[in-house]
This record gives sequence, C-alpha cells and structure tokens, in this order.
Amino acid sequence: MNSQTNNNQRRILVTSALPYANGSIHIGHMLEHIQTDIWSRFQKLRGHQCIAVCADDTHGTPIMLRAQKEGMSPEAFIAATQEEHVKDFEDFLVSYDNYHSTHSKENKELCELIYTRLRDAGHIARRTISQLYDPEKEMFLPDRFVKGECPKCGAEDQYGDNCDNCSATYSPTELKNPKSAVSGATPVEKESEHYFFKLTDFESMLKTWTRQGHVQEQIANKLDEWFDAGLQEWDISRDAPYFGFEIPNAPNKYFYVWVDAPMGYMASFKNLCDKTGGLNFDDFWSQDSDAEIHHFIGKDIVYFHTLFWPAMLEGSGFKKPTKVHSHGFLTVNGTKMSKSKGTFVKARTYLNHLDPEYLRYYFMAKLTGRVDDFDLNLEDFVARINSDLVGKYINIGSRVAKFITKNFDSKICGGVADHPLVKEYQEAADTIAKYYEDKEYGRAIKEIMQLAAKANQYVDAEEPWVKIKDESTQKDVHLVSSVALNLFRILTIYLKPAIPSIAAKVEGFLNVAPLQWQDAFKVLENHAINKFKPMVQRVDPKNLEAMIDESKEEAEAAAQPQLAEPLKDEITFADFEKIDLRIAKIVKAESVKEADKLLKLQLDLGGITKQVFAGIKSAYSPEDLEGKLTVVVANLAPRKMRFGLSEGMVLAAGPGGKDLWILNPDEGAEPGMRVK
Ligand code: MSP
Ligand code: ZN
Repeated sequence: MNSQTNNNQRRILVTSALPYANGSIHIGHMLEHIQTDIWSRFQKLRGHQCIAVCADDTHGTPIMLRAQKEGMSPEAFIAATQEEHVKDFEDFLVSYDNYHSTHSKENKELCELIYTRLRDAGHIARRTISQLYDPEKEMFLPDRFVKGECPKCGAEDQYGDNCDNCSATYSPTELKNPKSAVSGATPVEKESEHYFFKLTDFESMLKTWTRQGHVQEQIANKLDEWFDAGLQEWDISRDAPYFGFEIPNAPNKYFYVWVDAPMGYMASFKNLCDKTGGLNFDDFWSQDSDAEIHHFIGKDIVYFHTLFWPAMLEGSGFKKPTKVHSHGFLTVNGTKMSKSKGTFVKARTYLNHLDPEYLRYYFMAKLTGRVDDFDLNLEDFVARINSDLVGKYINIGSRVAKFITKNFDSKICGGVADHPLVKEYQEAADTIAKYYEDKEYGRAIKEIMQLAAKANQYVDAEEPWVKIKDESTQKDVHLVSSVALNLFRILTIYLKPAIPSIAAKVEGFLNVAPLQWQDAFKVLENHAINKFKPMVQRVDPKNLEAMIDESKEEAEAAAQPQLAEPLKDEITFADFEKIDLRIAKIVKAESVKEADKLLKLQLDLGGITKQVFAGIKSAYSPEDLEGKLTVVVANLAPRKMRFGLSEGMVLAAGPGGKDLWILNPDEGAEPGMRVK
C-alpha cells in the first residue's frame, strides 16, 4: 500500500527556463511554469526534498537596446521587469523557492569558474571572424538586427537569418540592400576575434548521454539528426557594447547571453543556499552527487539544454541534468497565439478576468509527457472547469456537507475505512503518482475524474436527500455523507499540486492540517468539520471574452504611436515670426511660497533683465537653476500675477511633475541671442 518511505526520500532540484527580461510573461510561458510547478508540488507532497528555482534571463543585445529606448540603465530596466515577473508567477500560485537574476554576483562567479575550467582544459578556441557592423551605432549587429531583401526570392524587409516569404535560411552578409534595424545605417563587414566552445570534444559523451533516458524519445531522435548533420564549435563571445559579463583576460569581449543563461539555474540555487541554512550547493551539483536535477523547457531551446549545457557541465566538472523535460508550444483555438486575434494573452491580462486555478486545472487536464504542441480551446476550457472541476469534484463536497453540519452536529462518523469506494480510491494512488512522475497529467486527471464520477453515482444511488426525511433511514445519511467527504478528501490530495488554493480551502472546511500524499491512506472518522463555503466559481464565458478583448486592445495600443493632444488652430508663418525666442541666463531663482508650482526667475537677456514666473518647481529646485541658460519667449506681453509681474515665458517640455525639462541650449549660446 505505502510505497514511499523515508529511506527513499529523493533530493530534487527543479527549474523552468529563465524568461527573458525584455517582455511580459504570457500564457505560453505559463504553460511551462505551471507544468513545472505541478511537478515540483507533487514531489513535495510525496515527502521528497524538492527545490524549485528560476530567474530572469537578463543579458544580451535586445535587452540592452530596449533599456536604451526606455531611457533607462539596463540594471534599472531588468529590475523593473523582474518585479513584474515575480508578481505574475505568485499570482498564478507558481511557487519558486527562489527567483533570481542572471545579472547577479553568483552567476558572474559561476560563469567565470566554468569558463576558466573549460579554457584550461583546452575546450576553448579563438579565431577571427567577419560580421556585419553598424558604423553609426558602432556595434556589431546580431542577425535579427539586420534587415534587407531576401537573397533567394527578393522579398523586402526580411531578417538577417531567414526569409518569412520563402523560408530560405542564409547569413546576414548575403542580404541585398542590408540596413541596420538599430540606426538604419548600411552595415559594413568588420573583423573581430571570437571565442568558441569546442562542442565537438564532447560528441561521444553526448551521443551516449542522450540515449540514457535523460531526454524524451522524441528529443533523442531529433538529436540524432543533429549528430548526423555534425556538431559545430559554438561562438560564445560578443564584442562591446554588450550587456553581460566580460570574459576573463579578454578585454571588451563579453559572454554571449546563452553562455551564462543556464548557469543562472545554478546561480539561483547558490543564492538560495547562501540565504538558507541546511542547503549545500555541492550536495546537488558535484559530479558524484545522487541528487536529481530536472530542467523544464520549451522545444525551441532543446539544442542549448541537451548539447551545449551538458557539455559545459561535463567539461567543468559539474553534474549533468538528470532529465531535460521538453514541452511543445501553446496554441489558442488551434492557431498560433496572435496579437490581432487577442489570443496573445499576457499573464496579467488573464488574471484581470479569470481565476488562476482554472488555467492550472485546464493545463493539468490536457498535458502529456510528450513534446507535442498544446491547444487551449476556449470552449473546452469552460466545459472542463464547469462540468469537471466544479460539477464533478467540488460537487461531492457541496452536496453532502449540509447533512453533516445540519443533522449530525458537524461530525463525520466512524465505519468509513472499510468502504469499498474508499479502498478503490486509495488503490488508485500509485497509478496517479506514476502519471504525475511521467508528466502524464492528463491521464492523472482522467483517472481522478472517473473516481469523482463514482462518488457522485454513489451519492445519487443512496439518495440522502430522501433518506434524511425518514427517521429510520437518517442514520444511513450520516454514513453516506461521511464516506463521500472522505472520497472528496482523497481526491483533494490527488488534485492538490494543480489547485493548491482550492485544496487549502478544502483543508479548512474539513478541519485538517495541510494534506500530504500519504494521507490518502488514512481516513477521517469521528471528526468535526467546518461549514462548507463555495471554493471556486463556475467560469463565466463573458470573462473569457473580456480577456480576449483586452488583449486585442493592448495589441492595438502597442501598434499605434501614442496620440498627442489635438492640435490648436493653424497659425501663419507671419504669426510665428512674431515670437521672439531668446537665450536667457537664469541669474536668480526663488520659490514662491504661496504657489506650489511656481519659481520666480530673474533672467538676463544680454543686458535686458526680465522677471518671469515659471511653473517648474516640481522638477527643479532654485539652486539648480541659477547660472543656467534657457530659452524664453521674450516679447510676451507682461501679465500681472498675484505675486508680481511676469514678463515672458520659459520654454519647458515633458509629461509634468518631476519629468519636466527646461530647454537647455548648447555651450556657445550667449544671453540675448535670438533662437532660430
Ligand atoms: N531566456 C531563454 C531561456 C534561457 S534558459 C537558460 C528563453 N526565454 S523565453 O522567454 O523566450 O522563453 C522562456 C520559455 O518559455 C522557453 O522554454 C520557451 O520555450 C517557453 N515558451 C515561450 N513561448 C511559448 C509558448 N507559446 N508555448 C509554450 N512555451 C513557450 O528562451
Ligand atoms: Zn525569400
């Protein structure tokens, strides 16, 4: 019966792929994080030591350029994204023991350590290569940052690596009329020395490793194709400017983002070890450790995780992954997630309209251990939640609870343990556990829902609502309800990894401590329970529509430039010429006590002195302004204000508040000069 004892407690480290720090989490990412979270919650429920970690993947050119565009330092930019990501995962009840960043001291140290070990063992080569370079922006251009005409079919506006029109693949130097997507400049070819990881040194190890059960069969077959095509040395360096870690003893050379990204798994774990007593890094990562390391990833990043990563670990003396679990891509209603259809749904947009446990349950109900794509069908979604989760499972508890509370003093009776249904439920534990372990979650749910159906049939057949009315049969209702609540309790254990918050509500209702897997083999007898409260609502399809609509609106808003305030009536050139714009030196600046927006400025316009009240106090303190040059409308008719005469207007721009800037003429401007 009880297959798990403390002697075979496993030590398991679990990871999800590290999301890039330049975008929001969407429901495609959530498929992975929920798959991972269900697996690690299951392991914890079974009594194993299971640690789940993740982090943001923060390095690389796209993130560097994105931060520049936002006018932020990359550090500030990635910090803001991380905060958003962490909140999204928390609100989806995805529970990482640590969520770190690849831009961290632990990761830098590990990256340098692994690299120097590989280098010292002779696994790093150096040679000069030629690449496209943006002469204006003064940077080498990644393939995706070069656009031009396809060398095969001539289609315009194609990326540097492949053509959307004819699917040809090529190198960016083959593009016709190439342009830098960063500056629009025509790129030139430029040479530079690069560092390469000699993947080929690990070919025979990898060929064996990939056939030892560390990857799914579908992946092992794909790997054979890659082996047949021949492994290549991997370019692991990028030239400055680059947001990342510098390569030791190689000035201005940086590690390519994909080098330090998987090390981020280790770094996040290291960071957790340093924060937590009793956890030791080497216990998990040393080559002879019997701990398990499980990576959950999408099919698009298999090459990195099943070739480069195990090879780098092997070459630097660390433990290789026990399993790399790959999943397919999420589609919605049978097609790729699409911004214009509103099916590219951000995690936050989903949460604005729907309960996170619906999606967790739905993903659970349909996931398999294979690498196939996964379809979120919105009609099916509603059906599974309403008829299965609520209609079958929750229904067991809700239909009998009232008898116990009303008629039997809130107490479950004895004599439950030998009931055949209770036995049948307990006997299903090993099968369901095996499905969880193999990520055959859909099969687990099928099994669980079949059990749930049996409990409902049992209650239907016993007709407690009839029997309760007759004194001679009332006692039967006590047993039926007590058995049903015990079945409800066992199903709650089996479902707990997918729906932790509903499970916690059930525990509250049943008045029991947090349930563990082994509790399935116990029963609740002669036990007082609490009042039943609704634990989850049915899905209202209107909320799904609202979510799709909001996603469409977001996509439209992102595609359109922000609309400015409507323009005022046109003026003629002659009108414009009347405005006399002059350089002014701010000689004196004082706060106006009675006005929280105004500063009183004494301006020197080259011999002419003017007093101006300017509404820029929220952005500047007076002492910052004295001695500065700015631009004024010098011939504005003086206006009498409450605090004195204002004889011009200082020009400033910005959204307001702290973000307001006076015009700041370049050096060489002199007070009184006319601005043209
Ligand atoms: N930063 C890299 C991973 C580094 S791991 C050391 C990356 N980031 S990502 O944000 O693009 O993707 C993160 C994960 O989400 C990947 O496993 C990817 O396969 C997965 N998914 C992204 N879109 C997805 C779907 N539409 N469906 C399912 N998974 C998806 O790659
Ligand atoms: Zn083409």
